[in-house]
Amino acid sequence: MRLDRLLCKHTGQSYSTTREWVSAGHVIVDGEVIRTPGHIIDRFSEVKLQGARLQGQPRHYLMLNKPAGYLSATSDLVHPTVMELVPTELRSLLHIAGRLDRASTGLLILTSDGQWSRCLTDPGGKKPKVYRVRTLEPVSSEAPERFAQGIYLARENLTTTPAQIEVLGSHEARVTIYEGRHHQVKRMFAAVGNEVTALHRECMGVIELEDSLEPGGWRPLTGAEIASVSVKVKQGTD
Ligand code: URA
Repeated sequence: MRLDRLLCKHTGQSYSTTREWVSAGHVIVDGEVIRTPGHIIDRFSEVKLQGARLQGQPRHYLMLNKPAGYLSATSDLVHPTVMELVPTELRSLLHIAGRLDRASTGLLILTSDGQWSRCLTDPGGKKPKVYRVRTLEPVSSEAPERFAQGIYLARENLTTTPAQIEVLGSHEARVTIYEGRHHQVKRMFAAVGNEVTALHRECMGVIELEDSLEPGGWRPLTGAEIASVSVKVKQGTD
């Protein structure tokens, strides 16, 4: 629905009045001032007019530095989950945008915005995900080329998008992949006869793990980080 239409519906004012409010910067959608009356919103968009909420709930976007040993799940009877690391009042609202294995560490993104997280994690979206890995065997000299050619994953019957490896040491590398399938990095190393012994995610898209976050620490994403994931919503005209 167009923003001006929603404003008319909620306030009973004319289109020309609501357009003036929008142009004057009185309307905030999902935390951002929107000055385009034809801006397209959905039923989940949080819309505020001069501070008063007309519809929607605030959406939440967090980055967490996941420690080893925590499950990327909302609840578990045996293991602690990453939800135990975020504020209690947000737990029931958040879901995980791109899980990490229990032993893996680093950047984990949690949000209440399903459309946004689907865009971040959609394998077709080809957003880079960067991991630092330690391996059991030395990183072989042919691994960069094999990763660049793409690795065949039998379960999905597909070949991964070309990935890059930067060799950091005999048993250490930085890997950039573009899909984020189940256990993808481990399976790619297994395909070249190696085993990942530690895996730390540094980056998803352009969102980088904040250096100053201790394991278990979190912070809200910035407006720029949220906007870096472009949700495909049709944009209307004035
Ligand atoms: N790939 C893996 O193998 N494990 C993770 O946790 C993330 C990516």
